[in-house]
Amino acid sequence: MVHMQVPFYRHSLAPENSKYVAKVLETPFLTSGPIGKEVEAQLSEYFGVKHAKLVNSWTNGAVATLLALDIGPGDEVIVPAMTFIATANVVELVGAKPVFIDCDPDTLLITPELIKSAITKKTKAVIPVHMYGQMCDIKAIKEILPKDQKISIIEDCAHTFEAKFNGDRPGKYSDVSIFSFYATKNVTCGEGGAIITNDEKLFERIIQAVLHGMSAGAADRFKAGQYKHWGMDHLGTKANLPDLLACFLPDQIRTVDERLVIREALAKNYETNLIGTRIKLPKSSKNIVHSRHLFPIGVGPSARDKALLSLGESNIGATVNYRSVPSMKFYQNKYSLGASEFPISQAWGEGTLSIPLFPGMTDAEQNYVIDVLLNKIEPMIGDI
Ligand SMILES: Cc1ncc(COP(=O)(O)O)c(C=O)c1O
Repeated sequence: MVHMQVPFYRHSLAPENSKYVAKVLETPFLTSGPIGKEVEAQLSEYFGVKHAKLVNSWTNGAVATLLALDIGPGDEVIVPAMTFIATANVVELVGAKPVFIDCDPDTLLITPELIKSAITKKTKAVIPVHMYGQMCDIKAIKEILPKDQKISIIEDCAHTFEAKFNGDRPGKYSDVSIFSFYATKNVTCGEGGAIITNDEKLFERIIQAVLHGMSAGAADRFKAGQYKHWGMDHLGTKANLPDLLACFLPDQIRTVDERLVIREALAKNYETNLIGTRIKLPKSSKNIVHSRHLFPIGVGPSARDKALLSLGESNIGATVNYRSVPSMKFYQNKYSLGASEFPISQAWGEGTLSIPLFPGMTDAEQNYVIDVLLNKIEPMIGDI
């Protein structure tokens, strides 16, 4: 076996991208301005929605969205147990209660039935997460929500940009969808995100909520040299994305579907080599386009930590996406949750790890990862 070093992720932004920063330096405001507006128009067109707002992270965008929806103390928001902690933390941050639900054992996505079983009179929203890049069925989720109670659907699109479910992109059936442009995401500017919606009224509240609740942003306050007073009717946070970061996005959005072809080929190659072994893979539904953001594998609780160690020794970057959120001490202490309450998320979370998948990955790098998986990791696995 040829030994090499394979990072978990390597971005594809070439040094030439610094020319975009130089362009921003020529403008008077380095913060949110004309470049961000261009990106927002680009996002609206890509997703076929009326409105888009750039934010400085998924997390801050979600806090702003929950504030804009007037969700707070006394309210409940349904979230998956199998997700990154941010999905639940934002609910805590606005003072509402995250109500966890388990996931489908094959896809690891939440389902309409699981959501239905968790709805109470206090439920104000549900946050389905398109885990690893595979979309949940948002249309089916919408159909099971009670007609006499307003429950907003907030899509967590941190793992997806390019995905489709039955031909539909995120944003079509939900109230609002939120993306992350964090360092390892399929579209990235280091830290960042975006909110999209077709709801005019909600969007008005969101654009204020991302800027302290102010009625006018910096570029608008100083338009034409004349100062304009602003007001504040609702509480907001600070979540706007500066043009200094937004400038990295237009080219990536234009070419994201080209990179998806490469991601898909890498993922298919992993699948071809791993199917039939004791390494478990999440299943994909029919009629989807998968964003192939992450490539998680299941090795089982008895082998997982040994496998992480062995991958580290083989110089292969690996991580865990994710241990179940209600198993975190904060949530266990606050809500007296037992591990057995979310058995599928718990078991997957204790037995999973993610392997490298990024568009710049070479054939030699992927072959090395596959060699290590087949020769070192698979033999560690008991029957799972
Ligand atoms: C499912 C999910 N939701 C939310 C987030 C938070 O995104 P951000 O880092 O942009 O706040 C992440 C980040 O990795 C995530 O994986």
